[in-house]
Amino acid sequence: MIKNNTPNWFIRIFCVILAAGYLSCQSQNTQMKFEHPDSESTTIYINNPATYLLLPVEESSPMSQVYVQGDKDRMPIDVRLASGQVDYYAPFALPEGNDIIVAVKHAAGKPVLWDKIQLSDTFDKSNREKFRPVYHHAPQYGWMNDPNGMVYLDGEYHLFYQYNPYGSTWGNMHWGHAVSKDLVEWEHLPVAIAPDELGTVFSGNSIIDTENTAGFGKNALIAFYTSAGEMQSRSIAYSLDKGRTFTKYDKNPVVTSDIPDFRDPNVFYHQPTGKWIMVIAAGQEVQLYSSENLLDWAYESAFGEGYGNHGGVWECPDLLELPVAGEPGKTKWVLLLNINPGGIFGGSATQYFTGHFDGKTFTCESKPETEKWMDWGKDHYATVTWSNVPDNRVIGIAWMSNWQYANEVPTRQYRSANSVPREIGLYRDNNEYYLINNPVEELKKLRKNEQTFTAEVTDQYNIDSLLDTNEGAYELEIDFKGISADVFGLTLFNGKGDSVDLFYDRTEKRFYMDRNKSGKTDFSTDFPAVTYAPVKKSDNYTLRIFVDKTSIECFDGEGRFVMTNLVFPDEPYNRVTFYTKGGKFKVDPMKVYKLGL
Ligand code: FRU
Repeated sequence: MIKNNTPNWFIRIFCVILAAGYLSCQSQNTQMKFEHPDSESTTIYINNPATYLLLPVEESSPMSQVYVQGDKDRMPIDVRLASGQVDYYAPFALPEGNDIIVAVKHAAGKPVLWDKIQLSDTFDKSNREKFRPVYHHAPQYGWMNDPNGMVYLDGEYHLFYQYNPYGSTWGNMHWGHAVSKDLVEWEHLPVAIAPDELGTVFSGNSIIDTENTAGFGKNALIAFYTSAGEMQSRSIAYSLDKGRTFTKYDKNPVVTSDIPDFRDPNVFYHQPTGKWIMVIAAGQEVQLYSSENLLDWAYESAFGEGYGNHGGVWECPDLLELPVAGEPGKTKWVLLLNINPGGIFGGSATQYFTGHFDGKTFTCESKPETEKWMDWGKDHYATVTWSNVPDNRVIGIAWMSNWQYANEVPTRQYRSANSVPREIGLYRDNNEYYLINNPVEELKKLRKNEQTFTAEVTDQYNIDSLLDTNEGAYELEIDFKGISADVFGLTLFNGKGDSVDLFYDRTEKRFYMDRNKSGKTDFSTDFPAVTYAPVKKSDNYTLRIFVDKTSIECFDGEGRFVMTNLVFPDEPYNRVTFYTKGGKFKVDPMKVYKLGL
């Protein structure tokens, strides 16, 4: 998937054009002249200053490359220029001034709808998606995967992310950018870091350099990312204006390797040794490096061989020290590790290891074959945590999709949202340590009206309307009590025949979510699924369910499991049936909150 962006082809095309003479074709738009539109290399002469060239995209068309002549700071972009119909437009920013030349290299034998290309000073970002979430972070347009570079600074949570501004499928990786004061309401900011001659900009994290150890400036926000060119290497960019603009370090890359999959740096400060540590995903292990100045890195150790799941490539690591619930002063180190494929329900997922870190080496304290999963759904990936968060809170967020079908989910203007932010801790059970995941308290701000239901369920109990006006964004907080049934739960459904089944099986000691009939599922054979999480046998459970148009996140009341799954119902699920298969239970109570910004 890695592109070599050297624009040699452009120079060659340009020379051929000069030699071959001038063959021009007038577009409907008289400010653009298209030269050689029937060949594989077309040149567009633009005479009128405009902010954007609006490029018509068709996701099933072959890939074209587009490049501005003379703009050495910008790499050619990959874009699926429409040849049959226009799915949507991508805004290609033009340099200022007249006489701009844009080169397009496109597939042989496939026409491009040249007459659909437009010059414009505006690009309409208003929402046209019925599936756009209400309270989850999602890009306004274009493609998003991993959350990147998350850091707190001066009252703002920064959320950077893997971003393609030129189409709603993976490609042209940039770091997109959003900020929030409360982890709930996100403000969209311009792209933060763009590709350069070292490659496109893959995942990584950021820190605040409070002591100016790197020499970029006190409190510099320093981003560590993957330059994905011929090989993958570590690069640095820093910002002295709260992430609004970035300068790339002039000696990039700072760490290189011969390993083909060598990416996703995650840097943190290790107090006891007084050193910065960088964890990097390297094939099917992680490598650890240390540094005193954030610029020169020394290899320390590797972890992974023989441990955990190795069904795919290891990606996006995060090494953190977490407090153990109920054991004051006790901490353990946790290595979050994303894997694709190899996830418990197929495709991508987040596993983790618990143990000890001495400043050089991470030691896993579980048996090597132990597999621990952070989330028990199919749509939770690339989880990493914010750095520099006040009050020692550890907050993570995940990309809510799965590489099996992320490029095919039925949205167009944008693709993918992030999970709700989660506060992370640890608990001990039988001398093993496991993650606790709770939705951040701040989400309570979203609660609008509250309704309470109670019920004794001996067979079935129906609620015909959860909310008077249901826009698909709500929270259910359910206390199940006095349970004697082995299998019991609830079905969320709508009037169009779409339903999701959520149930406990106390014999199997599992909580299940079945999305086989959840709505649109036929875009990928990997999408229909039943996922399950382990639970203890109990006669009462608390379940918190966050629904937001296309996602369902189920949290155990004590944070001992979380399950994240996408759904694409024709209309919001506004009805509930509680049911039991033998035995009974009480819903006492279920609170329903409409959620909104
Ligand atoms: C994980 C990942 C990372 C990589 C990025 C590229 O989803 O594959 O390893 O940096 O996505 O977009």
